Amino acid sequence: MSYTPISVVTFALITATIYRFLDARNSVNCIPGMRPLFAPMSLFGAAFGTQFWNPGLNWPWVWRKTAFFNHTHDVISIVPLISGGSSVCTCSMDVAKQILAAEGKTQLFKPKRIVAGLLLWGENIVAASGDQWRRHRRIVAPALTSKTYALVVEETIATYKEMIEGENWPTDDEDILVADFNRLPRKLALILIARCGFGLPMPWVDAPTDQNGLTFGKSLTIVTETVIPRLIIPSWLYKLPIKRFRTIKQAWSGLGSFMHTFVETRKEEQHGDTCSADENQRGDILSRLVAAMYTDEKLKLDEQEVIGNIFTLMFAGHETTAAVITATLGFLAIHEEEQEKVYAEISRVILPSNNPTLNDLQNLPYLLACFHESMRIYPAGVAIVRELTDDITIRIKRPTEETMVLRKGTLVSIDMIALHHNPITFPEPEKFKPSRWAEITEHDVSMFGFGARACIGRKFSHVEALCFLALFLRDWKITVPISAMETKREYEERVMGKAGMIGLAFGVGPVSLKLRRRK
Ligand code: HEM
Ligand SMILES: *[C@@H]1O[C@H](CO)[C@@H](O)[C@H](O)[C@H]1NC(C)=O
Repeated sequence: MSYTPISVVTFALITATIYRFLDARNSVNCIPGMRPLFAPMSLFGAAFGTQFWNPGLNWPWVWRKTAFFNHTHDVISIVPLISGGSSVCTCSMDVAKQILAAEGKTQLFKPKRIVAGLLLWGENIVAASGDQWRRHRRIVAPALTSKTYALVVEETIATYKEMIEGENWPTDDEDILVADFNRLPRKLALILIARCGFGLPMPWVDAPTDQNGLTFGKSLTIVTETVIPRLIIPSWLYKLPIKRFRTIKQAWSGLGSFMHTFVETRKEEQHGDTCSADENQRGDILSRLVAAMYTDEKLKLDEQEVIGNIFTLMFAGHETTAAVITATLGFLAIHEEEQEKVYAEISRVILPSNNPTLNDLQNLPYLLACFHESMRIYPAGVAIVRELTDDITIRIKRPTEETMVLRKGTLVSIDMIALHHNPITFPEPEKFKPSRWAEITEHDVSMFGFGARACIGRKFSHVEALCFLALFLRDWKITVPISAMETKREYEERVMGKAGMIGLAFGVGPVSLKLRRRK
């Protein structure tokens, strides 16, 4: 018997694959879990989508009821057989807190390959690690102050009015059907972060366009929707004469010039002779970023980093909040009894002809509970991912109480869907039950992350969402366009059961709403 070259190569490949697999498995300490062909975040893993043999990007949602061995394991591992790195995932609140408590001590790391999509424009607060991150955080976080939140209220009211005028809904008693409602909160949230964080006068209708006819908002939407394909598809493909590719290319370069112009304009404002007082008056995120280009080494940002932060904050600041607003309205339209409770609360706190104040918004606990409950079901920040720069020891409870060492170099993913659909922490996780937030203190609301790197936009998002929801629900009674063929339960299962990435945030799929003017 002789060995052909082919069989030798095949044998070598199989051996190498087995060796690679065993090595990867050992590195995660033989923690049980999934052994798919491709890692969820690899090219093939993502391309094949979520199906029974391939987790793909959306497995935490599609498999949310049974993942983590039906939540009997606090920690699982994913070791791909063919391509992509292995990782460890947790569905336990307690384990998540233990891991992130190490953030201060061991400097967990955000791996470049995971945040690559956010680095395309430059280093920034969300993507950076270690001392780099500390510098970005020190510059950006203090820009959000009580003055910002007062402005958020003012601008949400103004934008709501512009929306009502701009949408031009009929004024009679008819039901108005709004298909794919999310486009409205998405536009609202973009306008708000643009106006309140960056001082940009972005209108609801007739926003200025660039030479390709794209508005800033349109470019940003196209860019966030194409970040992941762009990382995968080779750049020469975009030079082919295909219309879709040309639009994508124009959106990317258009967004770049928009952001460059914002920086230049603010630079002139800060360093021109005429209006130096404006800088102090504004004190928004953009002012702090641009001022950081001219400070001493320790807190300096270069122009690329300023642009990187603008992109990141524009995205983090709008797609997340918008997705949760839409989900909240979807649930309240289905659960009309909850909507009536919210309506009663709003009517009690805000006088009929008054605009809500910041203080009013702090007195709407039931509306806040509905917002939190929707965010629990669809956590917009879908995974908190870190690489360990040191071994850490954690205590787990399930399947048995024990300590577990996670090795240096391990990729850890805190699965926010699994965490917030874990029936041990949230009984009946599939049910929309705002009352479960009644006794929970703000500190224990976990959807904005934990510890030193928790969300800086939490209050921004609360103020904006509560203000918009209060205005909207005061004026409109909402229901869902349900057919006679379907029960509400089935409708909820079908429509609200669809979710996935919207741009770079996670959220509910298309939701249509029926609106009727309240008298
Ligand atoms: C519903 C709304 C939002 C949700 C669910 C959300 C969720 C999160 C989560 C889970 C993290 C932690 C990520 C990690 O540790 O890896 C985070 C970080 C962050 N969020 Fe939000 N966020 C929301 C709104 C906002 C808004 C409105 C802004 C900006 C105005 C914002 C800006 C940021 C920034 C800059 C970080 C990074 C902080 C750091 O690494 O130091 N977010 N967010
Ligand atoms: C999880 O529960 C489902 C039924 O709800 C069952 O069919 C399945 O076998 C369970 N899986 C494990 C790993 O226990």
